[in-house]
Parts: sequence; structure tokens; C-alpha cells
Amino acid sequence: KLRVGIIISGGGSNMAALVAATKRADFPAEAVLVLSNRADAGGLAKAAAAGVPAVVISHKGFPDRERFEMALHAELVRHGVELVCLAGFMRLLTPWFIGQWKNRMINIHPSLLPAYPGLHTHARALRDGVKLAGCTVHFVREAMDTGPVVAQAAVPVLAGDTPDGLAARVLAAEHRLYPHALDLVASGRTRIVTRDDGGEHVEIRGEAEP
Ligand code: GAR
Repeated sequence: KLRVGIIISGGGSNMAALVAATKRADFPAEAVLVLSNRADAGGLAKAAAAGVPAVVISHKGFPDRERFEMALHAELVRHGVELVCLAGFMRLLTPWFIGQWKNRMINIHPSLLPAYPGLHTHARALRDGVKLAGCTVHFVREAMDTGPVVAQAAVPVLAGDTPDGLAARVLAAEHRLYPHALDLVASGRTRIVTRDDGGEHVEIRGEAEP
């Protein structure tokens, strides 16, 4: 099984969904480490309850981003992590860290990328009056919330939706999408293709041609 490390900053509900999926006997990955940059992250107790080692590395303990990320990286390596899943990790990563984990790090974002990168995705979507929201799992590249898309799920915007209400429905979709995307990546069914135009996309083996 592929050894996965999950990095969080908060509630960790996506982390918990990933960990639950990895407990299935036929799942191609195991969760070997949960890392949090915040000691008060609710996800830490969830990880411990699920029997996954949970480690806090506070960014505040380091003089700069690189030093913080070197500590993160060392902990991942120490646990033999082969694939990193960012799950509600709320710090920007440097090109150095992203380079260390190139094609071995995925992220979940609460919008249908490339729409609405960054923060406050649901409030912005509601303000624009779009009819579909959703979530995206993608390989991580240097620019924030970019990188080849592994999987997406759409969630309808309902009349009278509030940012919190929409966020809750998207989060429920995230909990289904992220384990599915991890399954695709860990089982080796994804291949990152670089096109002639320089762009990249993910091909998924066994997926029906349109
Ligand atoms: C999720 O909605 C995730 O997509 C989002 O934060 C939430 C974390 O919830 N991530 C980002 O906004 C990343 N920039 P969780 O801690 O319960 O998984």
C-alpha cells in the first residue's frame, strides 16, 4: 500500500474521510502520518482516534517559510511518506517544497477550478450568481490552486443559499471526492500528460472515452 501523509490546519473532516477510506482492505493507500501547523486543529484528535500518528509542527516556531517546510519535509520523510494529501492546509507552500513533492502531492479545493482559486470561494460564487459550485482534487503546482486536475464534483447552488450552507454541501461532496481521487492516484490509474502547448492534464486509465 502507498504510504500517505495528510497535512491539515483545521477541522480535518477531509482527513477523516481519507483515513476512513484507507481502512478498507482493498484500498491502495494507508495513512501513516497526519501533520498540522496548528496545535488547536480539531483534526488532531480525529487522527489520534483513528490510530494515525498526529504531529504538530507550528509555522510560528520557525524564522521563515523554508525552515518551516524543511521541518515538514523531514517529518514526512521520517515516516516514509510517498504521497502527500493537503486537506484544509491553509499556508502557501514555496517552490522548494512543491518541487520536493512534484507529482507526489495532491490538494482539495472547494471550487470547480480554475474558477475561484483562493479564499472565500462560496461567497464569491454566490455573488456572481453561478448555478454550479463544487470541489476539485488536483496535483500541486507552484501557482496557488493550480495543477492538473484529478477529479471534480459539481454541487448545485440553491435559491437562498448562504456561503455557510453552500460550504456545508460542498464539504459533503469533498468527503466523497477526495477518497475517490486518492484511490485513482494511489492505484496508479492517473498519468500526468504534458501537451505540446505546455499545459498538463491527468489521464485516467480505465475511464470511458467520451
Ligand atoms: C475544505 O473545504 C477544503 O476544501 C478547504 O478547507 C476546508 C477544510 O475542511 N481548503 C482550502 O480552502 C484550501 N485553500 P476540513 O479541515 O474539515 O477538511
